[in-house]
Amino acid sequence: MHVLILGGTTEARRLAGLLAAGEVPGARVTSSLAGRVAAPRLPPGEVRIGGFGGADGLADWLRTHAVDLLVDATHPFA
Ligand SMILES: NC(=O)c1ccc[n+]([C@@H]2O[C@H](COP(=O)([O-])OP(=O)(O)OC[C@H]3O[C@@H](n4cnc5c(N)ncnc54)[C@H](OP(=O)(O)O)[C@@H]3O)[C@@H](O)[C@H]2O)c1
Repeated sequence: MHVLILGGTTEARRLAGLLAAGEVPGARVTSSLAGRVAAPRLPPGEVRIGGFGGADGLADWLRTHAVDLLVDATHPFA
């Protein structure tokens, strides 16, 4: 199961840490950061940085990378 976490928050980093540590057997985790911070604290697991190019770009990325589960763990007011 490939999990994509829209991150940039403490909670997102903690969730990525749990998944990368094998909390859910067989799960692969990728965290996505907006790229606003010059030297971000990188979460465990795979990381990609930068916008997707809107909803269509995000949909393409999900298909291309065979994402099974998308978690929006960005800041609630972002
Ligand atoms: N605003 C706040 O108060 C606040 C506070 C703490 C943390 N943050 C974090 O800072 C980031 C940007 O927030 P914002 O308020 O400046 O902008 P935003 O309005 O939340 O997002 C603007 C654009 O940035 C890209 N983006 C945002 N989060 C992304 C992510 N996790 N991965 C890839 N692309 C992302 C998306 O571009 P595309 O449409 O091109 O994909 C989005 O349309 C968010 O991840 C948010 O959680 C914001």
